[in-house]
Amino acid sequence: MPCNTVILISGSGSNLQAFIDSAQNGELDATLSAVISNRPAAKGLERAREAGIATAAVDHTAYASRDDFDAALREVIDSYQPDLVILAGFMRILGADFVRHYRGRMLNIHPSLLPKYPGLHTHQRALDAGDAEAGATVHFVTEELDGGPPVIHARVPIEAGDTAELLAARVLELEHRIYPLAAQWYAQGRLILNGNRAELDGKALSATGFPFNGTSG
Ligand code: GRF
Repeated sequence: MPCNTVILISGSGSNLQAFIDSAQNGELDATLSAVISNRPAAKGLERAREAGIATAAVDHTAYASRDDFDAALREVIDSYQPDLVILAGFMRILGADFVRHYRGRMLNIHPSLLPKYPGLHTHQRALDAGDAEAGATVHFVTEELDGGPPVIHARVPIEAGDTAELLAARVLELEHRIYPLAAQWYAQGRLILNGNRAELDGKALSATGFPFNGTSG
C-alpha cells in the first residue's frame, strides 16, 4: 500500500514539487492526499492544484491562539488519516500536543547541518562563522524545535564570494533529493523513530543522520 501522505507548506513549495515529481516518476511509493498551508496565498498551493492534489488553507492569522490554530490544523490533517506528515517549508512552530500526536510519523527539512544552527538565517550564520560547509537535514519532528533525531543530511562546500542567497539555492537542490528519499525509506518501512533514535534498517542513525553522497542509500 502506498504511504498516505499529507504535506504542510507556507511558501513557494519547491520541496513539495520534488515530492510530486518523485511520486509521479515512481521513486516515491506514496499517495499525496493533501497539501495544507497556513498562508492561503502560498504559491505551493498552485503546484498542488496543478498536480490534482486536494488543498486546504488554515490561516494562522484567523486564530486567537497557537493552540486554537494547532487544533484546527490537526482536524484538517486527520480528515485524511495520514501515515506520514511532511513539513516542507512550513514556517509555524507547532505546539507540544500537536507534535506528540504525530510523533514518529512527521518529518521536517531544515536548511543547516543539524544540530548546528537550529532556527532561522542558517546560511548567513554559517557564513558569519566562517564555516567550510553548509547543508540541509531531514529530521523527525519532536517537541524541541529543529531538535528531533536527524535522518539524512547533505553538504555543500562554502565558496569564496558566497552569499546566503547563493548558498540557499545550492542547498535547495540537494534538499529536493534527500527529502523524497527519506520519505521513501519511511514508506518502505525501513525508517522508524525508536524512542529518541532514528533507525534505518534496524540500525541507529548517527547524530547527524545518513550522509547523502548522491546515491539512494
Ligand atoms: C527550504 O529551504 C526548507 O529547508 C526551509 O524552508 C525552505 C522552503 O522552501 N524550511 P520551499 O517552500 O520548499 O521552496
